[in-house]
Amino acid sequence: MAHPVLAIDGGPKTVTEPMNDSWRIVTELERSHVNAVLDDPGRAYEELDKFEAEFAECVGARHAVSMCNGTATLHCAIFAAGARRGAEVIVPSVTWHASISPILHCGATPVFCEADPRTFCADPADVRRRVTDRTAAIVVTHVYGNPADMDSFREIVDGTKIKLIEDASHAHGATWDGRKVGAVGDIGCFSLQASKPVTGFECGVAATNDDELFEKMLVLGQYGRIEKLRKSAQFADLHNIGLGVKYRANPLAMAMARAQLKRLDDQNAKRAKWFARLDELLGGIRGVYPQKTYPKAVRGGLLLYTGTLDPDEIGAPVDALLKALVAEGVSTTPRITPYGYGVMHLEPIFTDFDFGRIGGGPWADFGPGVRQPLRRGDLPVSEKIHDTCFWLTTPVDPSPRWVEQVGEAFGKVVANAGRLSRA
Ligand SMILES: Cc1ncc(COP(=O)(O)O)c(C=O)c1O
Repeated sequence: MAHPVLAIDGGPKTVTEPMNDSWRIVTELERSHVNAVLDDPGRAYEELDKFEAEFAECVGARHAVSMCNGTATLHCAIFAAGARRGAEVIVPSVTWHASISPILHCGATPVFCEADPRTFCADPADVRRRVTDRTAAIVVTHVYGNPADMDSFREIVDGTKIKLIEDASHAHGATWDGRKVGAVGDIGCFSLQASKPVTGFECGVAATNDDELFEKMLVLGQYGRIEKLRKSAQFADLHNIGLGVKYRANPLAMAMARAQLKRLDDQNAKRAKWFARLDELLGGIRGVYPQKTYPKAVRGGLLLYTGTLDPDEIGAPVDALLKALVAEGVSTTPRITPYGYGVMHLEPIFTDFDFGRIGGGPWADFGPGVRQPLRRGDLPVSEKIHDTCFWLTTPVDPSPRWVEQVGEAFGKVVANAGRLSRA
């Protein structure tokens, strides 16, 4: 039974148990993989080929191409999908900016769509309304490892020229209807950056079953490897230079990521267990809505534990609730959303930043309509998720007592919401 006085009012903290775990875990396995490369530097680049083969097998895709980061994979994917001046790419606002900015770098127009209020993933009905004959691609993000509704998105693109790109940067090992995400759409993009469930600190990988999309991704970013990797002679006249961009992954990062991939299933199982328990605990509390998963989806990667607080149902402002939770010892951060930079459709790069100020690159010549600036109120569901969400520092395998105490802390704060609203 939680103490009746809130910690913010001088009562005892509810969460006293240490989390007893951390997010980034480097084991002997990672060390041995990296050391093997350092001991035999002449074979370092073989790590790229090995990782690509192992990753392709892991997600069930014909091809995987490693890159220096997840942003590069999204650039290559959006480019390969045919984004160009005059084309549109539909993308959610509830995502990281890297799902969106490559659209501009291809000269195409980002068209923002709404999110589902409970799963936080792109809302298929809203996406369908935004499809035009200019739509080249749809990008969906599996937010924090929670798969988007892939049946609905496949239904929208099947039989059309529109390419479906999965930003699976949080969702390593997640599945949709028994298939690994990243291979359900036309291209799957994965960040392998330091905070991610599989990491080489800084690297990324794109997966696809489509030979043509694979070759276009190679041509954009893999100079020096194109002749070895390509399957057809389609772009043979570009030799090994391609379009001259080098998005190649670092072999040491690949060696580390290979070790991480071996531990992924075990880590996902550990995270899934405590996520499910916390869903049970929080799901029964008035006005607290843990992020929901579609029936055909199994979460993987599980980057962050998150959900929303309904201030009206609970009877106190979200800010006050988050501050009270922090005082109880819950590792959430008031005012900083998981996408701490803000609501993506309101960011200057996608609204009114004057690219002419930069003076270089293709942006200064953007014609009208390349951006379709939105204002607050234009995507009310996405904005509400942003304004009401909470998220926890997310360990892999915390002590069970910690999980119970986090649940208790939410219950205590909601039960005392009346006092928070008066304050
Ligand atoms: C959803 C999403 N997409 C893409 C990226 C970009 O990945 P990277 O930082 O490896 O470039 C991130 C990074 O956090 C992300 O969260």
